[in-house]
Amino acid sequence: MKGKAIEVGGKAFELYISKEVIARRVGEMGRKINHDFEGRTIVLLCVLNGSFIFAADLIRSLDIDCEFMTISAKSYGGLMESSGEVKVSGFNESNISGKDILIVEDIIDTGNTMDALINYLEKFTPDSINVCSLLLKPGLLEKDIDIDYLGFKIPSKFVVGFGLDYAEKGRQYPDIYALTGN
Ligand code: IMP
Ligand code: MG
Repeated sequence: MKGKAIEVGGKAFELYISKEVIARRVGEMGRKINHDFEGRTIVLLCVLNGSFIFAADLIRSLDIDCEFMTISAKSYGGLMESSGEVKVSGFNESNISGKDILIVEDIIDTGNTMDALINYLEKFTPDSINVCSLLLKPGLLEKDIDIDYLGFKIPSKFVVGFGLDYAEKGRQYPDIYALTGN
C-alpha cells in the first residue's frame, strides 16, 4: 500500500508514523510519567522549536503536579545533519534549583543537543534531570545519553511533521513523514 506523501522544501516525504500511533504512544509515556512521579511536582521543559507539539500533547496526558517551561537549543550544521556545536538560549527561569526537571525533546540524533542541554541545566542545581524524547536515531548517536522516556527508535531517516521541520518547514503536519528514498 502506498502511504500518504507530502512535499516540504522541494523534497518528497512519505507517511512514516501516523497520528494515531503517535497519540497512543504519547498516552503510554504520560501514564508511565504519572506513575513514576506520583505525589511529586515536575517541571516539563519543552525544547523549542521542535518539541512544541509533542510537549503540548504530553502535558495533557499528565495528572501529576507539573509546571511548564521552554528552552531553545539550536545545533548548527547542514539542513539534515547536525554539527557538534549547540547554542542554548531563551531560558529565563533560573529558579529550578531543587526541582525535578523533565526535558521534553522531539528527537535525539547525535545526542549533542541533549548533552549540551543537560550540562547547561546542571549549573542551576535541579534535584533531578530526566529525559523524554519522542524519537531516537540510534545509528548516529555520539553521546551516552540516558533516555528515561522514549517514544520510538527509528533508523537514520530524516523526518518531518508533528513539530519536526526541514529548513523550518513541515512542522504543522499531524503525522510524521520520512524523506523518500532515504
Ligand atoms: P542532535 O544534537 O544531533 O541529537 O540533534 C538533535 C536536533 O536536531 C533535534 O532537536 C532536531 O532539531 C534536529 N534533528 C535531528 N534529526 C532530525 C530529523 O530527522 N528531522 C528534523 N529535525 C531533526
Ligand atoms: Mg529539536
